[in-house]
Amino acid sequence: MTSHLEISGASSRTATGTIRPTPVALLLLGHGADPAAEAGVQCPGELPPASDPTLVARARAARDALGDRAFVLGHHYQRDEVIAFADVTGDSFRLSQQAAARPAAEYILFCGVHFMAESADILTADHQQVVLPDLAAGCSMADMATFDQVEECWEVLAEAGVAAVTIPVTYMNSSADIKGFTGRHGGTICTSSNAGRAVSWALGRGEKVLFLPDQHLGRNTAVRDLGLALTDCVVYDPHRPNGGLTPEELRDATMILWRGHCSVHGRFGLAAVHDVRERVPGVTVLVHPECRHEVVDSADLVGSTEYIIRTVEQAPPGAAFAIGTELNLVQRLALAHPDKTIVFLDKTVCFCSTMNRIDLPHLVWAMESLVAGEVVNRITVDPETARWARTALDQMLALP
Ligand code: 13P
Ligand code: SF4
Repeated sequence: MTSHLEISGASSRTATGTIRPTPVALLLLGHGADPAAEAGVQCPGELPPASDPTLVARARAARDALGDRAFVLGHHYQRDEVIAFADVTGDSFRLSQQAAARPAAEYILFCGVHFMAESADILTADHQQVVLPDLAAGCSMADMATFDQVEECWEVLAEAGVAAVTIPVTYMNSSADIKGFTGRHGGTICTSSNAGRAVSWALGRGEKVLFLPDQHLGRNTAVRDLGLALTDCVVYDPHRPNGGLTPEELRDATMILWRGHCSVHGRFGLAAVHDVRERVPGVTVLVHPECRHEVVDSADLVGSTEYIIRTVEQAPPGAAFAIGTELNLVQRLALAHPDKTIVFLDKTVCFCSTMNRIDLPHLVWAMESLVAGEVVNRITVDPETARWARTALDQMLALP
């Protein structure tokens, strides 16, 4: 791993038990260079200005020139201006599968975030090169679990005598390193659509699950899908000695939840649910399972991004939804369904800032560079990490 720029006061345990500062990967966006982080990497190259009136025409010309040699993937949370050029839209796993199903495409332009581009590199053939139009498009949740922290957590579990009966279950929203860790320790990857099946599978093989890196998805899955109690869950905080847990707490828990969260979904609050129920009579509150437990608990429907889209599409005219997920997607759903009332669940939650890093100037720059024969912002995963990450991804595909 390349070294991080150390800029934070967060801390974690050393082998001797003292507190030490840990590098925090989130740099000021676009400042500095930290190739080992999901976010905060400077984007090289001469970008066209966003005000360029010929930008759309340049994007079309570059796209046409690339033809079948390129395949443009657009995550559901991307901006409209980017989605307009996507050959396919979807959630992160579906997009990687789509890329793998098109071996003729030499270049995969991944309009999403860094961990998604890594997964695409793992799942596609060696001759396919994955490009992330802006390297600063990381994911703050993925950055909340670094490889060293997770290795240290495993040592803490071993010292408590529980590592041998613990199966890691890692959310797709994680770095390739953590996926590799999961594969090496006999675990599985999950998405927000199959987290319930993944955790049941893991509990059929071991006594405990180490759920990485989203505590909310882990808790919601344990309680809602598996009927576990909140008291069966403990939170491992990588910034506290021994994760802030005693060996007894680790031994008593069924779910060891990593202290990570989504900076967007984690901001929806219970007050917003109460507020929207008053403002929009008869509204159906529809949220993503990355939201906090109390929000999910008070919602009417809970599911992945694909589930949210399907639910809105299948609803009859006149239906009303308050949706708790990324704003680009909610706005597009509202525009596409003028016969339904669609509101954003919380007045104060913002766009995912890293998803929004991918804009038309970056896409044009990446495509024009490819046309000129220069592959920019290529995302690669080293073969050993990719091998183990693939093992964990294959395990997910084999889930009963
Ligand atoms: P899904 O699209 O898999 O539901 O993931 C949500 C998300 O936060 C992606 O960054
Ligand atoms: Fe990461 Fe949340 Fe943004 Fe998705 S929406 S990329 S999980 S910060």
